[in-house]
Amino acid sequence: MRAPIIVANWKMFTTLAEARALAEAVRDGCRGLSGVAVVLCPPFTGLATVGSVLAGSGVRLGAQDAHWEASGAFTGAVSPAQVRDAGAEVVILGHSERRGHFGETDEVVARKVRAALSHGLTPLVCVGETAAERAAGEATAVVTGQVTRALAGIERGEIGRCWFAYEPVWSIGTGQTATPTQAGEIQGQLRRCLGELATGPVAARAPILYGGSVRPDTMPELAAEPDVDGGLVGGASLKVADFLGIVHAARAAKLRAAAAS
Ligand code: PGA
Repeated sequence: MRAPIIVANWKMFTTLAEARALAEAVRDGCRGLSGVAVVLCPPFTGLATVGSVLAGSGVRLGAQDAHWEASGAFTGAVSPAQVRDAGAEVVILGHSERRGHFGETDEVVARKVRAALSHGLTPLVCVGETAAERAAGEATAVVTGQVTRALAGIERGEIGRCWFAYEPVWSIGTGQTATPTQAGEIQGQLRRCLGELATGPVAARAPILYGGSVRPDTMPELAAEPDVDGGLVGGASLKVADFLGIVHAARAAKLRAAAAS
């Protein structure tokens, strides 16, 4: 049984005061909660502040990206060593907004995944197809191709240190959540692909989250899918009640599934 994981992607939102208030509310709302892991990914500017709010709470800190070099002349970039130093344990990599707005290729994502692993970070590798690719029947091929290229050069055992997120591009920020069947099907294919890239046991343990317009009302059915291990949450992660609702919904759905099996 994989415990659900809910990751908040705050994107380019929150001042320091807002980040502090949001982190405090999430921390307090998750107090004493077992059977679910929660990670907050503020913008780089908020890492230290949010990290100090979360210290000792069990809610973990993540970054939204990290460069592939440990240091160097890369104006505007932030390294995996720096986000680790700021307290991050997880780093989102290959998000479709990084791919779309900043031209990140699979090759860049692969370099970042390798760098994150070598700095002791947990890479949260994001993949997902566009609406046109889905319409053309290419969704599975796109996501398995992306994950295969993102993990190029990584040893089978090391793949077991990665987390994954299926985020259909057409679903991010649109209010159009994938149906549980759509998410479950692709995520099952992703797990099979991970079995080939790594090993069966590694694939069986790998957390695969769903992302794209996750809300408290869509999380229960999504989390009831065996291959959906939680959510990567954008818009709804900025609203305390919605985010906590998602955390509780995922936890309850997995507990129900465990009791039924
Ligand atoms: P959304 O974003 O929940 O606002 O759709 C998800 C994401 O981009 O990770």
